[in-house]
Amino acid sequence: MVEVMFAEPGVEQLAFMPTIAGARRFTREAWRLAGIEEFTVAEDGGEVVGFSWCSERGVSLREGARAARVGWGLAGPLRLVARGWPRQLVEIPMPAGPKLVELQAAPSRRGTGVGTLLLRRVIDSVDGRTLSLTTRSDNPARRLYERHGFTVQGEKTHRAFQRRTGAAGRVLMVRPGRKPE
Ligand SMILES: CC(C)(COP(=O)(O)OP(=O)(O)OC[C@H]1O[C@@H](n2cnc3c(N)ncnc32)[C@H](O)[C@@H]1OP(=O)(O)O)[C@@H](O)C(=O)NCCC(=O)NCCS
Repeated sequence: MVEVMFAEPGVEQLAFMPTIAGARRFTREAWRLAGIEEFTVAEDGGEVVGFSWCSERGVSLREGARAARVGWGLAGPLRLVARGWPRQLVEIPMPAGPKLVELQAAPSRRGTGVGTLLLRRVIDSVDGRTLSLTTRSDNPARRLYERHGFTVQGEKTHRAFQRRTGAAGRVLMVRPGRKPE
């Protein structure tokens, strides 16, 4: 999954992670601490071609700090904050309930239906509950989410974020459930 995630580092990874080598260690440790039971992996002939992570809680601040030390050493948390602060400016709080924290298809497999398959699986797994996610406002994946019943419920923009990424900010997308939270 780490290989898939960093095969072609994304705009935000490049902009806000102190180094990509450290980001790989950081991510592996953060997932290990959070527990990988909530991940769904798409495989083709034994090769991981994508994955999703749907969680109610994601990575806590404490786990993030610990993972940052594994990623970049003792000063890791500080380095992450020093480089990543514009990302925090466009962070949008998500409603209670399940959240789609990650959805990734291997770059060589994008546009071949892997993402759709994983997203359908996640939607089935929440069993009629409201599902939320946030993403960069210019992410083409928004169309994929809209096709599956998500609508934009909020947006946060900031010039510092835009300067680093070219995107105005991030959007909150919600797929309303059949059941009250
Ligand atoms: C988003 C993503 C998981 C979709 O997986 P996929 O296997 O390419 O998706 P599918 O083939 O099932 O569906 C195609 C849809 O994916 C989206 N998509 C395609 N290429 C994409 C790309 N390079 N980046 C982001 N989204 C892309 C589009 O919405 C596309 O639908 P459209 O042609 O109507 O616009 C995949 O493109 C990816 O890993 N992107 C980078 C990581 C990312 O942005 N994840 C979402 C974070 S919230």
